[in-house]
Amino acid sequence: MVQLTLPANSKIGTGKTWNAPAASGQNVEYRIYRWNPEDGEKPQVDTYNIDRRECGPMVLDGLIKIKSEIDPTLTFRRSCREGICGSCSMNIDGANTLACIKGMDDVKGPVKIYPLPHLKVVKDLVPDLSGFYAQHRAIEPWLKADTPMPEKERLQTPAQREAIDGLYECILCACCSTSCPSYWWNQDRYLGPAALLQSYRWLSDSRDESTGDRLDDLEDPFKLYRCHTIMNCAQACPKGLNPAKAIANIKRMEQGRI
Ligand code: SF4
Ligand code: SF4
Ligand code: FES
Repeated sequence: MVQLTLPANSKIGTGKTWNAPAASGQNVEYRIYRWNPEDGEKPQVDTYNIDRRECGPMVLDGLIKIKSEIDPTLTFRRSCREGICGSCSMNIDGANTLACIKGMDDVKGPVKIYPLPHLKVVKDLVPDLSGFYAQHRAIEPWLKADTPMPEKERLQTPAQREAIDGLYECILCACCSTSCPSYWWNQDRYLGPAALLQSYRWLSDSRDESTGDRLDDLEDPFKLYRCHTIMNCAQACPKGLNPAKAIANIKRMEQGRI
């Protein structure tokens, strides 16, 4: 018979409340997904309280305060705290975003934090991004040109340079791919919005001479054509990029070759 409920060990349990609310009336409650593959326990949501006046205003500031002062076992990725490195991506208040540019005050009620969805969890808020990075590698994200290197540099006109605006800014945070239903169900074969936006970045670069090979490689029922223009990706991107538009442009380039 088909099993319609989740196995008991995959249900999220109620976890521990670590400390009392701040007495100042400036309390922010964080409810954070916890899972440690080494303790054999099922995932749980732990509760932490912090005084908003005692740390910076972003969700990441609160996480750092919790890790530094309340629970050093809490595990998450972060580096730049400027929205540049892409490492603090997580699901906050039901949406994928960067913890370092999401204000605590932008969340109504408790700050609920989960790892990026539909990826294996390494620990707590750290997802396994190895498949995501393999997809990025697969689109060969570098300049490919046979023309001998000029003495100084490969020049572009201002218009040619502008053609990669809205593409080169991608920080590979994976917020888009992990919000895409097509990617959830087909991430073994569909490249997903982030890798495809990166692919279009090189297809749009006037200095790249591998357009034909790149398009040949994408001409596949799964790698590219699993995008059904649901647009979750554009809504999720914390950098304001539009992977769906990039994917539509690649499809147009493919059609132009028929
Ligand atoms: S537009 Fe395409 S890539 Fe973006 S969320 Fe929808 S299916 Fe995924
Ligand atoms: S397109 Fe946006 S959401 Fe997707 S990986 Fe790049 S920066 Fe992140
Ligand atoms: S810490 Fe680098 S993007 Fe958030």
